[in-house]
Amino acid sequence: MAEESGDTDTDGDGELEARLADQETFDPPESFVEQANVADDGIYEEFEENWPDCWERAANLLSWDQEYETVLEDDDAPFYKWFTGGELNASANCLDRHVEDGAKNRAAIKWEGELGETRTYTYGDLLNEVEEFAAALRDLGVEEDDVVTLYMPMIPELPIAMLACARIGAPHSVVFAGFSADALATRMNAADSEYLVTCDGYYRRGDALNHKEKADKGLRGVDHEVTSVVVDRLGDELNHFLGNSAHDYDELIEEHAGASVEPVSRDAEDMLFLMYTSGTTGQPKGVKHTTGGYLSYAAWTSHAVLDVKPEDTYWCAADIGWITGHSYIVYGPLALGTTSMMYEGTPDYPERDRLWELVEKNGVDIFYTAPTAIRAFMKWGSQYPEEHDLSSLRLLGTVGEPINPRAWKWYYTHIGGENCPIVDTWWQTETGGMMITTLPGVGTMKPGSAGPPLPGIDARIVDTSGEQIEAGDAGYLTVQNPWPGMLRTLYQNDERFLAEYWQEYSDEESDEWVYFPEDGAKIDDDGYITILGRVDDVINVSGHRLGTMEIESAIVGVEGVAEAAVVGGSHEVKGQAVYTYVILEEGQGDSESMRERIVEGVEDAIGPIARPEEVVFTPELPKTRSGKIMRRLLEDLASGEELGNTSTLRNPEIVDEIAARISDSD
Ligand code: WT7
Repeated sequence: MAEESGDTDTDGDGELEARLADQETFDPPESFVEQANVADDGIYEEFEENWPDCWERAANLLSWDQEYETVLEDDDAPFYKWFTGGELNASANCLDRHVEDGAKNRAAIKWEGELGETRTYTYGDLLNEVEEFAAALRDLGVEEDDVVTLYMPMIPELPIAMLACARIGAPHSVVFAGFSADALATRMNAADSEYLVTCDGYYRRGDALNHKEKADKGLRGVDHEVTSVVVDRLGDELNHFLGNSAHDYDELIEEHAGASVEPVSRDAEDMLFLMYTSGTTGQPKGVKHTTGGYLSYAAWTSHAVLDVKPEDTYWCAADIGWITGHSYIVYGPLALGTTSMMYEGTPDYPERDRLWELVEKNGVDIFYTAPTAIRAFMKWGSQYPEEHDLSSLRLLGTVGEPINPRAWKWYYTHIGGENCPIVDTWWQTETGGMMITTLPGVGTMKPGSAGPPLPGIDARIVDTSGEQIEAGDAGYLTVQNPWPGMLRTLYQNDERFLAEYWQEYSDEESDEWVYFPEDGAKIDDDGYITILGRVDDVINVSGHRLGTMEIESAIVGVEGVAEAAVVGGSHEVKGQAVYTYVILEEGQGDSESMRERIVEGVEDAIGPIARPEEVVFTPELPKTRSGKIMRRLLEDLASGEELGNTSTLRNPEIVDEIAARISDSD
């Protein structure tokens, strides 16, 4: 189990230290409670008593073309079905109905590029462009149920393409722009995706990055014909053609100007999108989300937890390439008709106050980010937020990894002005939306603990045999009933779906199904859950999920490498960092160039997010007598932790040698 992130004392704010250090609970301010979408704690009981019909409250946030007949169908558990018989279209729910309700001129997306250029799309504008692109996709041959891959950074054309796909019933598969060419090819092959929408490039710290080159290279690894569309983000900066078969986005939009495309009525259980995520094996998992259940759940949690209201300017500072951006930049907020912000670049460009400048300029009401970002802000110092008026903020949120109490309190004080509740939201790509967090208008907050399960969610902490454990003890997190936003399966792999999530704690004989998210956790006497981290071979680097096996297979693919083990070591800002232990083939020197080739190998296979923090060459890996690598020990070595008993090792002497090599390189 990963350690909780350690406290760091870098902002030097002694006064804050003294005043809040010992405070363990915080209540939401009255001003927030008064206006909260959900302010009655009776909601927990209401959901429990009416389960599963309570989920109609989520479904009722949407407009259905055809009313559903059954809330939950569990005959074929754990292949649950939600809102069966219902039909709806996600893009109509995110766009048309708001335009029809008089919100045509309300901003739907407010975008800012890294260089400072801005674009605002009203709901009317967004609907028009979505229809135009939907018409274009159809003309290119995209049919209902064809998977369209979107490989784009944070530019408005990404949500436009997502909604255009949704409009014509073509599931999208968004591949994070920071992923490598190989990662793109793997995902396109796995989904048999014959369509790609990408762009020429984008800005990072003022430099124009050539994204097109990566997309091109990726396409060379795809084993079937692909039709591609290229968005021109950089103008003259780069030549943006992918080759003869590529279509220019702007030209397509022009050709289809004014097109109207009827939203296709999709069955509630039809796939809305696929999202690939890392797991225990080297092969990424294609998580399948549906139209009715997922969209209801994204809208409901945006309403109940993020307190989103149509008149808000709401900002989830994540990347749409991850599930957070799908649920809480695009689908949840747009389903509720609010203004959703998008920022292309990095938080410290051109200065470290960029995000606070954006909050002030746009009057942002709700801000949602990851602990790794908060730790970076804290390290930079409170002078940056202090330069700006952040009083428009009403609610703050975090997601992606555990937040340590000190970072929580810094966020609460320096960003929230001690006047905003914080929701620490635990969830996963697979859950579709938030699962464990306080309701901001209801619950007392305890820094470091995500909170109780949301109404209607039955999360429990169990031991290895599945028995519920005592408050205070560490155990395994489980979810013991289904929920509308849950993944339905892994794309074309029901077997792996069962094996990955349902095997551990379910009792198939008695038809009792327990979902296992692969996280360790503990619970306190008030039912508040503290997440302790992954218990599988997945690590969490800056809130990004990486499979250690994927990284290992990239390293052993480098010529001259015999064996590799990858673990997460604790890191002050990133939470965890990638530590690699490498055994070279006989006769290979552990030269600097070898190290570079390994780093490059990882970047080529996955992307810069997986870049090793440390490459430790070693003649052997610490192994048990039965030949198993002692990963726990490698983690402790990487984190600079006290080492436990090494006497069960076959080769205990190697531990000191590895420790010496790590400290040499510091
Ligand atoms: C893993 C899921 C949910 C969108 C972003 C990540 C960790 C997530 C928290 C939190 C502690 C958290 C878990 C989980 N995680 N949120 N609030 N506190 N840990 O989605 O890439 O699917 O990763 O992120 O370990 O299993 P993901």
